[in-house]
Amino acid sequence: MRVLILGAAAGGGLPQWNCGCPNCVSARRGEIPPQTQSSIAVSADGETWVVLNASPDIRTQFLDQPALHPRSVRHSPVAAVIVTNGDIDHIAGLLVLREKTGFDLFATGEILQIFKGNAVFGVLDPDHVRQKRMQIDVPFEPAKGLTITPYHVPGKVPLFQETGEVDTAMISENTIGLEIRANGRTLQYVPGCAMITSQIKDRFASSDHILFDGTVWENEEMKKTATGVKTGLRMGHIPISGPQGSLAQLADVTTPAKTYIHINNTNPIWRPGAAERQQVLDAGWTIAHDGLEIDP
Ligand code: MLT
Ligand code: MN
Ligand code: ZN
Repeated sequence: MRVLILGAAAGGGLPQWNCGCPNCVSARRGEIPPQTQSSIAVSADGETWVVLNASPDIRTQFLDQPALHPRSVRHSPVAAVIVTNGDIDHIAGLLVLREKTGFDLFATGEILQIFKGNAVFGVLDPDHVRQKRMQIDVPFEPAKGLTITPYHVPGKVPLFQETGEVDTAMISENTIGLEIRANGRTLQYVPGCAMITSQIKDRFASSDHILFDGTVWENEEMKKTATGVKTGLRMGHIPISGPQGSLAQLADVTTPAKTYIHINNTNPIWRPGAAERQQVLDAGWTIAHDGLEIDP
């Protein structure tokens, strides 16, 4: 199985257009490599690819990966796109893929409703883009040799659907993880997770590689960096650090290789030489970056 990290950053990217936090300033100066928004591509044979999450940066992400270039006048090696929630960083790229080349678009029923309810997604011509409903815990084969199983992960509705009191860790079709199997290997892709349940841990323990939500280092990170007031948990993202953080909670999941993805621009693990970055690396995790290829 081949796995390409197309975008390692969370929504907004690094640098984010309106952000002057120390990481974004460093990224503009070239001291930290800039990173695009949340997406990966997977393939069983290196020929046909499936893109997991369509970020607003998808055009340059495809440009930067020769494996994803067209091989004839009108062609794409991308057979399918699958989305794990309805956030802008995961669906806005679909609007870029509107040029009448066919692919299957897999989403849960909840997320398909977003496409149906927003006229702008009508640019995805149904004669070319086949919208398909994924069922939780039901495996499917979006490309030859690649079996994908969607599963529940605690999370919330997309930001633009929030009303009143928001349940930030609900089990629903709004936030899912994807189990990807090919050539006898198993990868888990969970770019957003509000809470690590025992089911999630068990699933991870029997896998070869996990790509997991590394949005924030600490819950109060936005406040601390004066970039916002929301906590990580309020955004549906479990922090990396602390006794309840993902680093501690997944420490005893030792079988799979572990990689943090969907990393927010405020996260100190982006900074070369930062103690937080070192702590993550010392715990045996990889920190994803754009262009990284993983061999699960
Ligand atoms: C998130 O992961 O929290 C979202 O990307 C937020 C957003 O849509 O801006
Ligand atoms: Mn996101
Ligand atoms: Zn920033």
